Amino acid sequence: MRLMPVVYIVSYLLITSIAANAGQEVIVLHTPPDRTVIEYDILNLSLEVTKGAVDLIKVTVDGKDRKEIVPDLGFECFSVILNKLGTSTVEVSAFKGETLVATFVRNVFRRSDLVGEYRKPPLSFKISGFHMEAHPECRKCHVLEVSGYDKKPISPSTFASEKFSSEQIFAATSTCYSCHKSITKKPYVHGPASVWSCLSCHDNNAAIRYSVRKPVKDVCYGCHVEQKKEWNSKKYIHGPVNVGKCTICHSPHSSNYAFNLFKSTWDLCVNCHAEKATGQHVLGDTMFKKGHPTKGRKDPVRIGKELTCASCHNPHASNYPHLWAFEVNDVFELCKKCHFDK
Ligand code: HEC
Ligand code: HEC
Ligand code: HEC
Ligand code: HEC
Ligand code: HEC
Ligand code: HEC
Ligand code: HEC
Ligand code: HEC
Repeated sequence: MRLMPVVYIVSYLLITSIAANAGQEVIVLHTPPDRTVIEYDILNLSLEVTKGAVDLIKVTVDGKDRKEIVPDLGFECFSVILNKLGTSTVEVSAFKGETLVATFVRNVFRRSDLVGEYRKPPLSFKISGFHMEAHPECRKCHVLEVSGYDKKPISPSTFASEKFSSEQIFAATSTCYSCHKSITKKPYVHGPASVWSCLSCHDNNAAIRYSVRKPVKDVCYGCHVEQKKEWNSKKYIHGPVNVGKCTICHSPHSSNYAFNLFKSTWDLCVNCHAEKATGQHVLGDTMFKKGHPTKGRKDPVRIGKELTCASCHNPHASNYPHLWAFEVNDVFELCKKCHFDK
């Protein structure tokens, strides 16, 4: 007798969950799977929608409204930007009139080498491995076989003088463009990404298809041979460069900052060297307690540029102590490079 209410509750749950499943068949969320890890800020979504069953699809990211879609193709593909690192919750809700007919929740982890706590995703989160499967449902409209256009012979030394085709040509010839077109949308686009030579770095034959060979610097140096020669010949190499992590600071695709940096130079440096933000270290234990300026002034040597950490330190390598950007061996010589009168 005492078990009766439990059985009743269980069967009630069974019935309501069947009802919910039946409702959800009006749309199928193909990508992403739950607990996906992404590296950068673009998340791709694709939904199959039963025609006429849904009037409106709403997408929220961490509770904020991000997109409203009126479905028409029977298939809806779009992307959303994840502004924060770590876990975000993406919710897709489908309405027929005022009625909620289906809802999906996906947790996504945006990883980053720049911030310790986001370096490793939580257990049970992994990269989608999307390209490990055949995806016949996508091939109705997209091409997934690579072609010669996905790898073009280009070099940093000749790039500026070469003529490349237009965005329309890349759209028509690149295998990757139709699904990953947002990846080159930021203002500073890296050479090979700008011409959709995606397979210059992404390995079609890698164990996880399209992953990039590690250490990444070997891939970068494959084209940036001058930098390789120059930096490897220096006495001191900056920590992150030495371990081969060029993409801690540089986006391989596109970014909002010159040199495809993920943040402004000053913000990047201070991200790891927080205690240097005051500029106190430049003057040491002198009367100038407020420290030396490190930003917000004009660089007296690199005309047209702002003063930053890189005004005094080379971000990659140097023959001089503390990676100084000048050929000087002590602090006093360094000061004279900018304070000509002292
Ligand atoms: C049919 C659409 C489609 C096409 C075409 C496509 N991709 Fe993807 N790709 C995806 C989706 C969806 C993901 C899952 C991750 C996401 O949300 O971005 C993905 C993920 C990736 C990843 C990350 C690894 C992973 O499994 O999460 C890489 C790298 C990648 N694609 C490279 C490429 C390259 C290079 C090409 C062209 C040769 C290409 N893709 C063509 C849809 C596509
Ligand atoms: C009925 C046709 C159709 C099918 C099927 C289809 N797509 Fe698409 N998809 C499109 C169209 C059209 C675009 C827009 C292409 C463009 O503007 O260049 C697109 C764009 C995309 C984009 C880019 C979205 C953005 O805004 O950045 C992704 C990602 C994508 N599709 C993934 C997929 C995946 C994954 C599948 C299979 C699960 C798939 N698509 C199946 C038609 C389709
Ligand atoms: C200069 C080298 C380079 C080029 C060129 C390049 N990528 Fe990447 N891409 C990377 C690296 C490095 C990663 C980080 C993941 C890794 O290390 O495997 C990455 C990651 C990705 C991801 C996963 C993003 C995420 O958030 O998880 C996608 C998708 C992708 N690339 C697509 C492309 C497409 C499309 C192109 C062509 C326009 C392209 N890449 C060109 C180096 C490159
Ligand atoms: C396939 C050849 C190729 C590979 C691989 C490659 N690059 Fe490049 N890179 C170029 C070209 C081409 C340019 C554009 C040069 C120009 O604009 O004149 C460029 C430009 C750059 C610039 C901007 C330079 C400037 O003066 O504005 C940076 C930074 C950079 N690459 C970093 C990287 C990093 C980091 C990697 C590895 C993840 C990498 N590159 C891999 C070809 C490559
Ligand atoms: C700690 C951050 C950081 C790392 C790691 C890093 N870079 Fe840079 N890189 C910068 C900054 C900052 C600039 C812009 C310097 C300036 O303002 O003059 C730059 C400029 C460049 C340039 C263009 C100017 C030049 O010096 O030739 C290239 C090419 C480049 N980096 C490639 C690479 C490659 C390849 C790697 C990996 C071996 C790498 N970077 C690692 C921060 C970094
Ligand atoms: C991803 C983290 C990271 C970033 C970003 C970073 N650094 Fe570093 N930096 C390191 C590490 C790690 C070391 C090595 C620490 C050591 O040897 O004590 C280091 C060492 C240094 C040194 C000391 C060299 C010496 O011999 O005394 C200087 C100077 C320096 N970084 C300047 C910069 C500048 C300038 C930037 C911005 C362009 C920058 N760092 C960005 C991690 C970083
Ligand atoms: C005006 C020149 C100048 C600027 C700008 C500058 N530094 Fe320095 N930096 C120095 C000098 C001088 C030293 C050596 C101090 C010493 O001998 O104690 C140094 C040393 C360092 C060291 C190594 C010393 C240590 O304590 O490990 C790091 C790391 C460093 N600077 C990072 C930065 C960062 C990050 C910025 C930007 C916020 C920056 N610097 C801006 C001149 C400068
Ligand atoms: C890369 C160039 C550069 C180097 C190297 C440099 N400075 Fe400066 N310094 C500046 C600039 C720019 C200012 C700001 C001037 C202004 O605003 O008019 C400044 C300002 C100062 C000031 C005035 C502080 C203030 O708040 O206005 C002092 C003192 C000073 N520097 C001392 C030094 C000493 C000591 C060294 C060597 C350890 C040094 N600087 C190295 C560029 C440099």
